[in-house]
Amino acid sequence: MSNVIAVEPQPVHQVETMRRAKAAGIDLSRLPRHVAVIMDGNGRWARSSNKPRIEGHRAGIKSVREIVRTCRRLEIPFLTLYAFSAENWKRPGSEINALMILLCNFLRREIREMKENNIRLGTIGRIHELPFAVQKALDYARRETAQGEKMLLSLALSYGGRVEIVDAVKKAIQAVREHQLTVDEINPDRFSEFLDTAEMPDPDLLIRTSGEMRISNFLLWQIAYAEIWITPVLWPDFREEHLFEALKDFQSRQRRFGRVDIDGAI
Ligand code: FPP
Repeated sequence: MSNVIAVEPQPVHQVETMRRAKAAGIDLSRLPRHVAVIMDGNGRWARSSNKPRIEGHRAGIKSVREIVRTCRRLEIPFLTLYAFSAENWKRPGSEINALMILLCNFLRREIREMKENNIRLGTIGRIHELPFAVQKALDYARRETAQGEKMLLSLALSYGGRVEIVDAVKKAIQAVREHQLTVDEINPDRFSEFLDTAEMPDPDLLIRTSGEMRISNFLLWQIAYAEIWITPVLWPDFREEHLFEALKDFQSRQRRFGRVDIDGAI
């Protein structure tokens, strides 16, 4: 019997994406484990070409698809997308409805590709606030992709960082009441277990499109040490090359987590 270990060949698309990333100057051995994205500028994109706002969101889905694919091919294991904030409920009902329909269509169309590529769908946020049909579509997509072990694609929906923290505090209090935890045992690590993001590492890289210098209530706890990269590019125009720019910039940063650098030069 041969003792050669069979290594699964990488699909052509993956090899090509990796080649382009290397050509763009990216070191594939130092990629972030978790990338989080505030997808902004859909409305402005639509306005700039005299289209209704929903056309901006529709065009934004193309960017979602491209970024999911590229992250997967680069073997980035966690990608979190801010798809609908708790504040987005204040938008006109027609825009909210259209966004929910786009989301359901996206889920329906992408399940097969997610399964083929070993991507698991997850969600963060107050999913119970979404229309029932959307909750069902999400449940189905989560179940269907549950075996995906190469990447966790998390959609933040009806999500707000402050509410997430308040909800986590309530869960921690409940755990103390039920004697699963003592007050003295609560520390940042234990507390993180009560957040929606309990199963993922904190984001290493936070990308925001459309040039706004804001965090907009996204992953407030989790981005404590994330590198932030903001581009003026509007989300519907965001493509692989922009992700590469963000990754390259990330690799040029010195991540010190509050320490001095390795040889104490700083
Ligand atoms: C912000 O742009 C974007 C959103 C509120 C929604 C993002 C949704 C998508 C990209 C499509 C659906 C997503 C998935 C995952 C299927 P904005 O409307 O605030 O833009 P503006 O600031 O230019 O008005």
